[in-house]
Amino acid sequence: MSISNNQIIDRLGSCNTLSWKAPSNIALIKYWGKKDFQIPANSSISMTLNNCYTNCIMEFIASDNFSVSLEFENKSDDSFLKKVTKHISRIAKDFPVLKSFSYTFKTSNTFPHSAGIASSASSMAAINLCLTELLVKLDEVPNEDFFRFASDHARQGSGSASRSLYGGFVDWGATSNDYGSVQDNIHEDFIDMGDAVLIVDSGVKEVSSSKGHQLMMSHPQREERFSAANAKTKKMIEILKDGDWNSFIPLLESEALELHGLMMSGTPWFILMKPETLALLDLFKKWRNENSVRAAFTLDAGPNIHLLYHKDERDRVLAFINEQAISHLENEQWIDDKMGMGPEKVIIQ
Ligand code: DP6
Repeated sequence: MSISNNQIIDRLGSCNTLSWKAPSNIALIKYWGKKDFQIPANSSISMTLNNCYTNCIMEFIASDNFSVSLEFENKSDDSFLKKVTKHISRIAKDFPVLKSFSYTFKTSNTFPHSAGIASSASSMAAINLCLTELLVKLDEVPNEDFFRFASDHARQGSGSASRSLYGGFVDWGATSNDYGSVQDNIHEDFIDMGDAVLIVDSGVKEVSSSKGHQLMMSHPQREERFSAANAKTKKMIEILKDGDWNSFIPLLESEALELHGLMMSGTPWFILMKPETLALLDLFKKWRNENSVRAAFTLDAGPNIHLLYHKDERDRVLAFINEQAISHLENEQWIDDKMGMGPEKVIIQ
């Protein structure tokens, strides 16, 4: 049942702005392939980041004419605006009251736009935290289920965003296909893990993730991949709880290469790694094995490398970057990140 304008005014009082910051995440076992509407073909698990996040301010005013305007880093962005408008219209099928407002979104990222880091997870998470908080204020969503609803809404905007609603390690598809779920009791050897993101190429990817998911659904190895990925997610959760770095390294690395192998063995095939990606992976493997460092790489759907490392290995990893990796990086760029605690509400004065 839809609520009246008077009820809206009663419930919101003078509140006309909500703001959240939400982090990006890096998948350890990857979501690659989706069925129906934004349902993952296999389960995935990620680590939430700390320094790479999106800030979102949502201003809203009750209106008979639903409208959305948006600024990304103080500039208009038509394709993002279209995506957000379509997204709100979709969520409004379950919560029609969302169409009773005019919205203005102002979003910005803490990571450079040109760093080749996907921002859809953090931006969809931040936007949906604002929208879901509005629904809580309107008594449409129970406060105790706030993050679950926010994750479900974020998932509908971008699958990986479902995992950006919580800190630490988060699965999507192992506990529920509709929302991300935090994994508790992680071993201290994986807590506060570092993530050095080595920027090899910041250009626009030849094939978007959305297209990649679609191609995966006609891949000759899809069924084997989906069941193997489900088993790998379970295994990864066990490893994180046991603190088993010896098993973590091969599982993380073979999963990253499997993702890229699937891209290369599909029809049409595509390659997102660059020559410098391969050069760096070679250097890293040699250095890690010679020095027995608790560090491992993973790759997103792109050429940049995430080096995940035990918090006590930071000095050695920084030495590797500065002495060996730096000359292979685009403009010597890398992002110094680590495990994060999840989104934060921003209080507007
Ligand atoms: C390789 O979440 O960006 O990063 O649901 O179409 O928005 P959409 O896709 P998206 O895909 C992410 C793919 C990945 C792996 C992962 O994050 O699990």
